[in-house]
Amino acid sequence: MTMAWVDVCAAEGIDAEDVLRFDYEDRTYALYRTEDNRYFATDGLCTHARVHLADGFVSGTTIECPKHNGRFDVTNGKAKGAPATVDLGCYPVEVRDGRVRISLSSEGTG
Ligand code: FES
Repeated sequence: MTMAWVDVCAAEGIDAEDVLRFDYEDRTYALYRTEDNRYFATDGLCTHARVHLADGFVSGTTIECPKHNGRFDVTNGKAKGAPATVDLGCYPVEVRDGRVRISLSSEGTG
C-alpha cells in the first residue's frame, strides 16, 4: 500500500463551513472546510447506512448525516450522535499553492 497526495480542488472551491464529495479509485471521501478555514477529510459514506455525507450539513466542526441525522466530528471522524456509532476514517489534508490535497492510500491488486 502506497500513500500519495491526491489533488482534490482549489482551496476556494469549497465554501467555509461546507462539505464536498470527492471520488477516487472506487471510494468516496468528504472534504470539509471549517469556518476558520481549516480543511479535513473523512470517508464520504455514513457508517450507519452508507449515504453520502456530502449531502449533509456542516455546523462548526460537525457533519450531520442527511438520512438519520447521525453526527460526526470532521476533525477526527469520531461518531458524536446516534444512530451513528462507528467512527469514520479520516485522512491528512494539506493546502499548497492554493490547492487542497488529501493523502490517500493506493492499493495494488495483489
Ligand atoms: S445513514 Fe447516516 S445516520 Fe443513518
